[in-house]
Amino acid sequence: MTSCRVCGGPVVEFFDFGRQPVSDVFPAPADIGTEHFYRLAVGFCTDCTMVQQLEEVDREKMFPADYPYRSSGSSLMRRHFEETAAHYLATELDGPDPFYVEIGCNDGIMLNSVRAAGVRHLGVDPAEHAALAAGATGSRVHIGFFEEAAARRIREAEGPAQLVFSANTISHIAYIDSVFAGARALLAEGGVFVFEDRYLGDIVTHTYFDQVYDEHFYLFSVRSVQAMARQYGFDLIDVEHLSVHGGTMRYTTARAGERTVLPAVARWLAHEHDRKLSEQATYASFGAKVESHCTELRALLTRLKDEGKRVVGYGATCKSATVTNYCGIGPDLISAVCDSTPDKQHRVTPGSHIPILPPEHFSSPYPDYAVLFAWNHAEEIMAKEQEFKAAGGRWILYVPDVHLA
Ligand code: SAM
Ligand code: TMP
Ligand code: ZN
Repeated sequence: MTSCRVCGGPVVEFFDFGRQPVSDVFPAPADIGTEHFYRLAVGFCTDCTMVQQLEEVDREKMFPADYPYRSSGSSLMRRHFEETAAHYLATELDGPDPFYVEIGCNDGIMLNSVRAAGVRHLGVDPAEHAALAAGATGSRVHIGFFEEAAARRIREAEGPAQLVFSANTISHIAYIDSVFAGARALLAEGGVFVFEDRYLGDIVTHTYFDQVYDEHFYLFSVRSVQAMARQYGFDLIDVEHLSVHGGTMRYTTARAGERTVLPAVARWLAHEHDRKLSEQATYASFGAKVESHCTELRALLTRLKDEGKRVVGYGATCKSATVTNYCGIGPDLISAVCDSTPDKQHRVTPGSHIPILPPEHFSSPYPDYAVLFAWNHAEEIMAKEQEFKAAGGRWILYVPDVHLA
């Protein structure tokens, strides 16, 4: 039995996606076969309810210097972080000489707005190329992993932070005890550690099984984050549900006793109880749905191939690594995946080896069908690609079930 990374309790495995590659490392055609594989399996701690993976991938393998993901590739996400920065500039950061620290700043999608407001700031991110893109705009970045030792050094050099913020990163960090110890050392009195991540409730409700990949070591719920915060001497003082990335929760924590706990926490705990989010049966039925959706998707793609239709993928997401590798989808069923990220283009999808081409490939000529792997950006992409449907093309979606759009 595996022990919970947070509380040491027993973790019961509920789904095994089998051998999976690191999801955000895209081999050049000549490097096919060099991918690092591991067993992607998820389990549920029967003590603290934290959903977590059973095998951890080395952080250097997941977040190398040339980690290709660029947050600013999405206009929706740029707007989301501009609004988020504006909110915190008017609240937590509105005192005299505030200091803002961001864990996993990537290309500066949020950090740059804080810098532009003239607020003292520091981004921390090991992905050197992405971090340098943030630095190129004038934002201050420390290239490295956030953990307790790094936090102590920042505190010593720059003083306490009113806000430690992180988006889509804390769930990636298996050694989360060190992150909370770092936040504890770094925060000013009354300061807050805020993080937003994909929400387990949405993943289970909508069978977003492709949100399970190496980087999402934890799948957080309000209940598990509250237990985790307590374990590390913090209170979960507020939660806010956000629509981005198919359903995200923003968790606001503060050192125990320093801030008032707001009613949204109890409201969401009750909601999770009603949705049976802490019951093992919920996860058994999630697993059954994953299997049937994959079978259906493969059957649809096989039928389209037999009918001579051309099918491409849209968005070489981390999510697509789980889908293609678990469902056994390769270049025989999907001829190419179009993606706007320069560092992914002319490479292949990890494990499934589907060629990745620039977006221009999509329209020259349009395929018959396109599997929307970047379904969390559906509105933005479908608006941009209206001509695809006008030309008779159809989108294939596999969440919350397999359907055409
Ligand atoms: N915050 C951005 C967003 O929401 O779009 C980027 C999210 S990206 C999925 C995760 C980022 O976290 C990567 O840039 C990665 O290099 C960084 N990261 C991973 N582990 C980290 C750690 N221990 N400390 C700081 N950054 C980390
Ligand atoms: P994400 O789902 O992890 O945010 O990744 C989205 C991927 O989709 C990323 O590789 C960029 C790509 N993409 C496009 O190719 N075109 C687009 O219009 C958008 C929004 C994303
Ligand atoms: Zn636990």
